[in-house]
Amino acid sequence: METEKFSKGLLQSDELYQYILETSVYPREPAPLKELTDATASLPLAGLATAPDSAQLIAMLLKLIDAKKTIELGVFAGYSLLLTALTIPEDGKIVAIDINLLDKLLEHPENEGSFDFAYVDADKVNNRYYHDRLLKLLKVGGLVVYDNTLVRGSVAVPEELVPELRKQRRQAAIDHTKTLAADPRIQISHARIQISHASVGDGMMICRRII
Ligand SMILES: C[S@@+](CC[C@H](N)C(=O)[O-])C[C@H]1O[C@@H](n2cnc3c(N)ncnc32)[C@H](O)[C@@H]1O
Repeated sequence: METEKFSKGLLQSDELYQYILETSVYPREPAPLKELTDATASLPLAGLATAPDSAQLIAMLLKLIDAKKTIELGVFAGYSLLLTALTIPEDGKIVAIDINLLDKLLEHPENEGSFDFAYVDADKVNNRYYHDRLLKLLKVGGLVVYDNTLVRGSVAVPEELVPELRKQRRQAAIDHTKTLAADPRIQISHARIQISHASVGDGMMICRRII
């Protein structure tokens, strides 16, 4: 797991990223999320939390599809988990996993095709193993969202110029993106009104199960 501190934005300047956060994200960030960020700011790995602009988009997606049952891989201190809990209805359900228990879920047939939404922010390099399992768990029409798909922009940089600690994640992200682009079970689109590989936070791939 990468531990260095970094700015999550991919935009051309930190100032531009700050502009988006300060004008559009922080003013609408729910108070419990701000409190969680403050309470966990001193943790050595505080930078692992989902980027607030990514979280804002996730909340929008959850509302758009009226998600009630969600699954999340990669919890850490719970920023994205709390965001989801604050966004879905009170009688909603979240399965949050910080170790890989997907196969156990699939041992129960009633879980197949039962989830509205999945958010993947775990070890990244194993996303390809999670994908098939998550698609089985998702309803047709459900969304799976993968975080950090642009790996701080390294996916578009020649491998020899990428720091050693990021090479494995960079290659896994490139391979996973190719797999998703070729997967007939999901809809991804680069049209402006159906953004799928969104350059929020550290990059977020939004996939909709269509069959
Ligand atoms: C980037 S952090 C998640 C941040 C979280 N979404 C948030 O908003 O705070 C990644 C987390 O994934 C967990 N993790 C690592 N490998 C995993 C795996 N195979 N399955 C599930 N979680 C895993 C780590 O323990 C860590 O807490």
